[in-house]
Amino acid sequence: MSVKAPRIPVTVAEVVEVNALIKRFRFVRSDGQPMPPFSGGAHIVVEMDDHGTRRLNPYSLMSVPEDSEGYSISVRRDDVGRGGSLFLHQHVKQGMAMQIGYPVNLFALDQRAKKHLMIAGGIGITPFIAQMAQLTSLGGRFELHYSVRNRELGAYVDELKALYGDRIHLYFDDDGDKIDLDRLLAGQSFGTHLYVCGPKGMISWVRSTAQAAGWPAGTVHSEEFLAPPVGQPFTVELAQSKKTITVGPIQSLLEAMEAANVEAPYLCRGGACGQCETDIVSCDGHIEHNDHWLTDEQKASNRKIMPCVSRFGGKALVLDR
Ligand code: FES
Repeated sequence: MSVKAPRIPVTVAEVVEVNALIKRFRFVRSDGQPMPPFSGGAHIVVEMDDHGTRRLNPYSLMSVPEDSEGYSISVRRDDVGRGGSLFLHQHVKQGMAMQIGYPVNLFALDQRAKKHLMIAGGIGITPFIAQMAQLTSLGGRFELHYSVRNRELGAYVDELKALYGDRIHLYFDDDGDKIDLDRLLAGQSFGTHLYVCGPKGMISWVRSTAQAAGWPAGTVHSEEFLAPPVGQPFTVELAQSKKTITVGPIQSLLEAMEAANVEAPYLCRGGACGQCETDIVSCDGHIEHNDHWLTDEQKASNRKIMPCVSRFGGKALVLDR
């Protein structure tokens, strides 16, 4: 996908305050067509005109995949972030016209699994809501372990319990609850796949515990989109386009390329998918590699950069774009 990729024109059909931090948004098509099909785990990019700043933020779809009438997302407000979630919370109202990208799934259910073991932290619950709906209609086996700060901030805990009963296991941090991961992993039958979505620390903990317990890498799935970090402004020369661009303090390099009408591919916009990988022609300075796509060796060699999340400090950076 790129900045010129086709978009779906939508109307905001509903905005629901789920709790003090989370709002749910439902989009329906403005042209009367059905929404494109998607599978549980897919995300869309929501395009926003934030007072002159164009934002393209990815959010997991949480609606039922077979529902072709509309898409739903839930957004946690980030008061110290770059502004996308704040814009959605403060300015997006029912009836507003917006544009969204086509669904992309980087966190799909593995159809080979005999059972799906899901671990969610906080707003990381959203892709699982769509996946559990999909598994329910297909007759797939699953269980979800969902960790939240407390009941008030636990989005959809009551609804999920009502829908799926004892397949849902809840953990409230404020009550001192903790997932007994060693025991949970040890008790799984052969053919189970493990999925985790939540804060960075939770993903690393689950992945490393599974690895230590001998789970094959292909049976462990995670999704984490990083928000592009803020930082000092910097200048980049784009060799193919013959342009020099300046990346602002709360802008990503990818966004700066797009603002300069330089064609730059992306899927996740969060350092996870590899789509935006760009060759470095020369670098006199230091690349802040913020992605979790490049290997440590690739990062050390300074031959590649992921413009969606990584930044630069130093004298000169020339990229092959
Ligand atoms: S767009 Fe996915 S890693 Fe940059």
